[in-house]
Amino acid sequence: MTLRPETDAVHNSMIDPASGAIVPPIVLSTTFEYETTGLDLPEDGLIYTRWQNPNRAALEGTLAKLEGGAAAQAIASGSAAMLTIFQALRPGDHIISSDDMYFGIRVQLNEFFAPWGLGVSYVDMSDLDAVHAAVRPETKLLILESPTNPMIRLADIAAIADIARAGGARLLVDNTVATPVAQNPIQLGADIVVISLTKYIAGHHDVLGGVVIFAAEDDFAERVTRLQRIGGSVLSPLNCWLALRGLQSMAYRVRAHSENARQVACFLAEHPKIERVLYPHHPSHPQYELAQRQMRVGSGLMSIQLRDGRQAAIDLVNRLNLFTSATSFGGTHSLIEHRESIEEGSSTPGNLLRVSIGLEHPADLIADLEQALR
Ligand SMILES: Cc1ncc(COP(=O)(O)O)c(C=O)c1O
Repeated sequence: MTLRPETDAVHNSMIDPASGAIVPPIVLSTTFEYETTGLDLPEDGLIYTRWQNPNRAALEGTLAKLEGGAAAQAIASGSAAMLTIFQALRPGDHIISSDDMYFGIRVQLNEFFAPWGLGVSYVDMSDLDAVHAAVRPETKLLILESPTNPMIRLADIAAIADIARAGGARLLVDNTVATPVAQNPIQLGADIVVISLTKYIAGHHDVLGGVVIFAAEDDFAERVTRLQRIGGSVLSPLNCWLALRGLQSMAYRVRAHSENARQVACFLAEHPKIERVLYPHHPSHPQYELAQRQMRVGSGLMSIQLRDGRQAAIDLVNRLNLFTSATSFGGTHSLIEHRESIEEGSSTPGNLLRVSIGLEHPADLIADLEQALR
């Protein structure tokens, strides 16, 4: 019987055969007894926790299934997941990257990988002709976020997957902002999915983690896996356990984040002090049609631009009571952040605030925004 993702998420965790515990134990042992045969090491990798760990195996298996992938690797953070992918490429290879993305990934590429010999072109992934024109014979990878952070722009994942395939390159989609509840990029043709587990998957502001999910167990997937195991940027057993616990309620949390965000976006879009609400599930967004076609549900992340400029944006952050001035997104608490202040080499508009809508009651959030904008 094929189970729906909500059911799978609850039933994924292995009942501990030793005790019958429904909640799996956290396996802290760094080393595992294995049979010395003089042949290969055990197939399940359970020799040393850098190689594999029961909590990590359970999380990886669940995430691979959820995204429709063949295999997954849980890594120390979303950033470390991207770093490992770039390390698995070779000097002389070329990447096409979205020109709007989490700024830390751009820093990795510009500061560390470009000097090492990786060619990088930044393009607006909503412009398919520009993406097509950027492909070169040495292009190995296209990377995009949809929606992007912080400009909340979408890319047509299926169309870009076609461009990547025609150019002999792989497509990597960062599904952190959208979540697997909204879209499964592998089903749309992507080869690799990266998710920062720190956000909606763990969902409670208490886990740093990342995952790489591969559509196929091909030679690149093997190289990334080997790099992770040899290099050691693995996710700890405790963080795997916490992320797996978060996954059990993720679908319900994301739908609540999305509904709260929709109501907040509707309020803000009508407010005279707000110049623009960047939220693709609001009809005012230029990519509303693509959002409806590509995503099953909206994210809880949006950005807003204030008519009165940069200082008005900063003042708004400081007048709010229920929105915490803090970075990150995807957790229970609503957070708000002036992105230009914290992004290195930012081209984000000064009047922009990124808003992560939490699980508070939307009417309370709207009332707080109303008083702060007055
Ligand atoms: C879209 C996106 N991808 C990746 C990352 C990096 O994830 P982490 O903070 O887990 O390293 C972030 C962090 O904010 C992000 O917003």
